[in-house]
Amino acid sequence: MPFSILIVDDEILTLNNLKKFLEREGYEIYVAETGEKALEITSRIKPDLILLDLMLPGISGLEVLRQVKEKEPNTVIIMMTAYEIIEKAVEAMKLGAYDYLLKPFPLSELKNSIRRALETLSLKIRIQEHLNTEKGRYYFGRIIANSAKMKEILNIAQKVALMERTTVLIQGESGTGKELLAKAIHYHSPRSEGPLIEINCAAIPENLLESELFGYEPGAFTDAKKRKIGLLEKGNEGTVFFDEIGDMSLNLQAKLLRVLEDGTFMRLGGNKPVKIDIRVIAATNQNLPTAVKEGRFREDLFYRLNVVPIHIPPLRERKEDVIPLALFFMSEYNRELKRSYTGITPEAAEALEKYSWPGNVRELRNIIERIMSLNDDQEIRYHHLPVEIQKYKSTGAEKMIQQTLQSEEWPTLKELEEKYIQNVLEYTGMNKSKAAKILGIHPSSLFRKLKNE
Ligand SMILES: Nc1ncnc2c1ncn2[C@@H]1O[C@H](COP(=O)(O)OP(=O)(O)OP(=O)(O)O)[C@@H](O)[C@H]1O
Ligand SMILES: [Mg+2]
Repeated sequence: MPFSILIVDDEILTLNNLKKFLEREGYEIYVAETGEKALEITSRIKPDLILLDLMLPGISGLEVLRQVKEKEPNTVIIMMTAYEIIEKAVEAMKLGAYDYLLKPFPLSELKNSIRRALETLSLKIRIQEHLNTEKGRYYFGRIIANSAKMKEILNIAQKVALMERTTVLIQGESGTGKELLAKAIHYHSPRSEGPLIEINCAAIPENLLESELFGYEPGAFTDAKKRKIGLLEKGNEGTVFFDEIGDMSLNLQAKLLRVLEDGTFMRLGGNKPVKIDIRVIAATNQNLPTAVKEGRFREDLFYRLNVVPIHIPPLRERKEDVIPLALFFMSEYNRELKRSYTGITPEAAEALEKYSWPGNVRELRNIIERIMSLNDDQEIRYHHLPVEIQKYKSTGAEKMIQQTLQSEEWPTLKELEEKYIQNVLEYTGMNKSKAAKILGIHPSSLFRKLKNE
């Protein structure tokens, strides 16, 4: 699709000349002789670029600029101005014009200015598109890291991403973000244009994994009719991500070690070594040193992989990440589920932070999704939370006792009771039968107490 340009000038001759010239350059051209018409065309067709004369009858060029920038901030505007009013051009630049041309200008100058402007524009478009691609999804900036521990991890990961051959071993409990980090490393490495091959060692049965990894030559076994290129070879010049490496069999571990050590291997049934250039990232939720001690994981492979070890701590050890993560997922599900949540109430936030998150970030994400699909509300509230998380809020009683103990004067038992009843009532939204249940008394006794009998 060609770029579209709107030319705004009250001199018909100039207008037609520019139109002809730019059409020959391959742009789609619209024209307007007044500011009013320019605004009307802009809101209708949203041109990529506007070539705008400053001196217009009716509303001025500057006013057009101001209004366009307000409504369509991405539109590029090049001003055309006579020498006498050059100070206006300066003002226009301040208002966000991209460039200005002093009339009369050679067409080559116009051509260059437009080309530069559109290059900037397509760069912007590319950045926008980029955010919607694989690479954009695994952008380091989208990994939430509020805790010092996570910030440090991102720091290391960003550095190691640039060292294109360095092996990385990512360890952490299930759901802590190992896969996310591995992908971010690949997409920010010099290999990002190369392939990223993901191999889940736990999901593929051992006999299959071997032929998947190394590929085979025809006749290697009964079913091998044609040559098959294995995953290692497919990952050439890219990254191979071994997920759940702790689940790889000892036999395959030995073979993988050989590949890592000499960068070559043989297809099954083949006799010629195949050379490959890959970076390996491995991840596991097992404790590999323990697996080594227990003889389930080869010590030599462990040391070969453990060049840059990254341990992602469980979420319960970095509680400062809980609310930022919850808010991040909230904005994602707002978009996906067409909701308009704006926050989390303090009671809900407290419970979320105190909960122990055995399923880590994945569990948090699932819970936010569940709450937002079941409730069309503005805020995530305490009563939206699953019961196992609700338990983690300090109860009204705990809070009240704390407050009372901190105050100078000691209340009487009756005063304390009144205050407690009031708190429970507030908590239940003044629902007396719910309150009576919490207090462990019959509703009629609660009524009596409230009437101060
Ligand atoms: N710091 C973070 N910022 C944003 N999203 C995160 C973060 N950490 C994890 N997630 C999200 O949490 C979910 C789980 O992450 P991921 O799949 O990377 O975990 P994992 O450690 O590989 O888990 P498993 O061991 O179970 O395979 C994903 O949806 C991921 O995008
Ligand atoms: Mg994973």
